[in-house]
Amino acid sequence: MHTETNNIIVEKAATSKIDQIDFDNLAFGSVFSDHMLVCDYKNGKWETPKIIPYQPITLDPSSKIFHYGQSIFEGMKAYKDEKGAIFLFRPLDNHKRLNISAKRLSIPELPEAYFMEGLTKLLQLDEAFIPTKEGSSLYVRPFIFASGKGFHASPADAYKFIIACAPSGAYFSGKVKVLIEQTYSRSANGGVGYAKAGGNYAGQFYPTQLAIEKGYNQVIWTDDTEHEYIEEAGAMNIFIRINDTLITGPTSDRILDGITRKSILKIAADEGIATEVRKISVTEVVEAAKQGTLKEMFGAGTAAVISPISAFGYKDQDYNLPQLENSYGSKLKKIITDIQYNKSADKYGWRFKVTA
Ligand code: PLP
Ligand code: COI
Repeated sequence: MHTETNNIIVEKAATSKIDQIDFDNLAFGSVFSDHMLVCDYKNGKWETPKIIPYQPITLDPSSKIFHYGQSIFEGMKAYKDEKGAIFLFRPLDNHKRLNISAKRLSIPELPEAYFMEGLTKLLQLDEAFIPTKEGSSLYVRPFIFASGKGFHASPADAYKFIIACAPSGAYFSGKVKVLIEQTYSRSANGGVGYAKAGGNYAGQFYPTQLAIEKGYNQVIWTDDTEHEYIEEAGAMNIFIRINDTLITGPTSDRILDGITRKSILKIAADEGIATEVRKISVTEVVEAAKQGTLKEMFGAGTAAVISPISAFGYKDQDYNLPQLENSYGSKLKKIITDIQYNKSADKYGWRFKVTA
């Protein structure tokens, strides 16, 4: 069946997969909703987006995504409140960042209306896939990749923008043990670290696997010249509490400007928590751990929300973090998730209601 809503063409799935989803035992990003949004870029312009049944896509083997990695993505979540209303969190910031990534990867920028209308229509259609269980949500993955053909190492002439959705539980199960990286780098000055480029993640898999083999869950990336300053984790920005001050590194060419990060900085300041955005060295963190002034470390990101770090490894030694009753991490997590799930007033105007 084809129906047209505004500009977006909707082809509904003949049958729904909803009965196959075990909403009580959701992993992260491994089962998908009934529909996806697809929008093609051809002949110098983005065509009208379509919503179609979730399905595999066919690509020419010479498509540039396979050879030159021209691909970017975003990570968002849709939440449902007790009355069934649907919300996103700061979605315009994701759109802006998608276009920042697009520019860096020579991908044509996507109009805001296609992003927002596509997202809205897709969420309305697949609203039954938005979990209501605490800690679960519908993970929304907008992405753009080079579908254009040819082995010439130059930007493609055709792209696909897709939004796919996955009802998801927590990204990490339990506390996270991290290894402070001393050999490999995630990004470099002048590079693409600040973009959500697919290749940034591929480059992390090998060092992260080495860390996993040593008993850690994640790598904490350090600066590429000295491996001395803490930057971020594979999928999260990092916060460090020394005494009662919450510290995070400044964003740069090498670090993703996280939406959760900047929201936490704002909430913390409003809650009277002292914050500092400055370079933080591994030496300072190790010293604080030794002196007992290192109180908390946590990662922050859309998928991970706020994930407490239980211990870090550095130069063959592990340092445990104390277990705090009233941590900043848990306090900030409650405030941000209450806004996201429409459980509290949103004085910031960050919550975005998805309406027809
Ligand atoms: N850093 C990296 C490398 C990420 O992939 C993510 C996830 O999106 C983040 C930080 C956190 O960003 P955000 O809070 O916008 O999800
Ligand atoms: C997100 O937090 O949404 C991300 O994009 C991280 C992803 C690598 C799982």
